[in-house]
Amino acid sequence: MKVNGKHVRTVRFENGKCIMIEQNKLPFEFSWYVAETYKDSCHAIKTMIVRGAGAIGAVGAYAMAQAALEAPEGNYLEFIDAAKQTINNTRPTAQNLFYATEAVYQKAKKNRNDAVIEAERIADENAEEGRLIGEFGNQLIQSGMRIETHCNAGWLAFVDYGSALAPIYAAHDAGKNVFVYADETRPRAQGGRLTAWELHNHGVPHEIIPDNAGAYLMAQGNVDMMIVGADRIVANGDVANKIGTLEKAIAAKYYGVPFYVAAPCSTFDLNTVSGQDIPIEQRGAEEVMQQTGPDHNGEMHSITVNHPNSACINPAFDVTPAELIQGIITDKGIIQANEIAIKKLFTL
Ligand code: MRU
Repeated sequence: MKVNGKHVRTVRFENGKCIMIEQNKLPFEFSWYVAETYKDSCHAIKTMIVRGAGAIGAVGAYAMAQAALEAPEGNYLEFIDAAKQTINNTRPTAQNLFYATEAVYQKAKKNRNDAVIEAERIADENAEEGRLIGEFGNQLIQSGMRIETHCNAGWLAFVDYGSALAPIYAAHDAGKNVFVYADETRPRAQGGRLTAWELHNHGVPHEIIPDNAGAYLMAQGNVDMMIVGADRIVANGDVANKIGTLEKAIAAKYYGVPFYVAAPCSTFDLNTVSGQDIPIEQRGAEEVMQQTGPDHNGEMHSITVNHPNSACINPAFDVTPAELIQGIITDKGIIQANEIAIKKLFTL
C-alpha cells in the first residue's frame, strides 16, 4: 500500500532488524519502530506498536529468525526453544502468531539462514493472501454498496493489502462506488484511528461511527454488507475477532445484513474444535479508563475519561458463532462457515 505516494509494507526485515510501522502513533504521526533484537520484537507485539493478526504473525516470524541469528553456538537449540516460548507468550488469541513461529522454528532447528528465508517467505505469503482475498471479496461488492467494518483489518493488520479491507480496496480500484462505515472500536479505537487513516489515504469515502451506532444504521437500511477480519477461525467455523464483533453479527442477522469474515488460511486453527476453546486476551484497565492523543506539540498523552475509582474489565476479543456468518472470504475462495467447507479448504 502507498503512504504519501510511496509503496510500503507494514513490516520488513533488514540486516537482522525487524522494522515496522509504529501503529500507536497513527493517525497523528507516521513513523517506524526498529526492533534490534527478538526481545524488541516481542515488546512491539505486546505494546501494540504492531497489531492485527497478520502483522503480528509476520513480526513473530521475524522475531523467531532474529532469535536464530542471536543464538550462541554453544546452546543454540535451548536458546531458540526459549525464544519461541517468549514470542508465543506475547499475545494469546491471534492464530497467525503461532502458525508463523512454528514454521520458522522448524527451519531454525536446521540452521540460522533457513530461518531468515522462511520468515521472508511467510511475510510474502501474508501479502499475497491479502491480494487474493481482495480479488475474491471484490466479487461480492456491487457499486453503490455501503459496507460496515469493525476494528482494523486493513493492510496495517497484515504485511500488505489486509483482509476485511482488501475487497473494499479492490472494488474501489476497479471503479466501483463503495462507502465504508468504520466502527470506532473502543477501547483502542483501531477503527477510528487506523481504518479511517487507511481509507482516507486510499481515497475511499467513509465515516467513523461510534460502536453503538451499528444496529441503528442497519435498522435504517443503511448497511448493505458487513465485512470483518478474524484473529482465529476454528474447525467448526466459529470466529474470534475484536471485542464488539459478536454484537454486530447478531444485529446483522436480525436486520438481514450479510455478515462476512475475511481471513487467510494462516488464521485457521483446525486443532481447536469450537470457539469456546479459544483463549481470549484480557487487557489492562487503563485502555478503558483512559484515552490517548497528541498535544499541540505532537506529544502523546493519556487522560482519564471514566470514573477513576470504579473497577473495569477489558476482554479484547469475542467469538462469533458460525451460524451468524454468511461466508468466509479466504485467499483460496469464499467458503461457508462450517466444518465440511473448512476441511475442504485445507485439501485444496
Ligand atoms: O488487538 P488487535 O488490534 O491486534 O486486534 C486484532 C484486530 O485488528 C482485529 O481483531 C481484526 O479485526 C482482525 S486481525 C486482522
